[in-house]
Amino acid sequence: MRRVIRQVHRVLNEGRFFVINVSPVLIRRPNRQGQSRRLAVPFDLHRIFVEEGYDFVDDIIWVKPEGAGWALGRGRRFAADRTPLQYKPVTVTEYVLVYRRRTDKLIDWNIRTYPDQEAVRQSKIIGDYDRTNVWYIQPAYHPVHPAVFPLELAEKVIRYYSFKGDVVLDPFAGVGTTGKAAWKLERRFVLIEKEPAYVDIIREEILDWMGKAALEVLYFNCDPPQVRQGMLF
Ligand SMILES: C[S@@+](CC[C@H](N)C(=O)[O-])C[C@H]1O[C@@H](n2cnc3c(N)ncnc32)[C@H](O)[C@@H]1O
Repeated sequence: MRRVIRQVHRVLNEGRFFVINVSPVLIRRPNRQGQSRRLAVPFDLHRIFVEEGYDFVDDIIWVKPEGAGWALGRGRRFAADRTPLQYKPVTVTEYVLVYRRRTDKLIDWNIRTYPDQEAVRQSKIIGDYDRTNVWYIQPAYHPVHPAVFPLELAEKVIRYYSFKGDVVLDPFAGVGTTGKAAWKLERRFVLIEKEPAYVDIIREEILDWMGKAALEVLYFNCDPPQVRQGMLF
């Protein structure tokens, strides 16, 4: 994680944002005598971000509707016998942590000196927006990838933290949700994913969400998508 955070810092413009969706990870107990453990990954990562030259800006709490999280079985024991010390809440939240590449310049400087002021105007958020750091969003599901995030989450982050035409980089691309949201919101995107199986999914699905434009994308270390017979754009 430190290596990735460092490399992103290298290519991120001064004062621009790194937004990461992360949550504590549950390590199941190895047997009935063993303990389950929760690794506080967001708090470990926070330290790395600060050491690697970012300033902390915000912690947004993504709340999933009631019902999410029960499948993990956490909290069942307490629900049954109600003995203190056994209390374990069911987790229905994740963090969306917002960092800014360290600079002594104000955010206003990023806006004022942006080379395309028309894009700044075009990117204004019209109408309703999230007024607090609690965002209620339904989780997403993918038949192959176990941990995709919802398109809505990616869209909110991209709208709030970039301008139209900006390059949005996702170093943990999964099945490409960030690319899909970026394309929809008229941003450019760079997706990096280490698992060839997920790269294959991006290559398959990109034709659905990007159409013919997917053939103009540069593909590194993988083949471009295959246009299937009868495919209409
Ligand atoms: C939680 S998933 C992200 C899913 C993505 N947000 C989506 O909606 O599809 C994290 C992804 O990061 C990938 N990953 C982990 N470490 C990586 C690395 N060092 N370089 C590139 N990808 C990495 C994993 O294979 C996994 O697909």
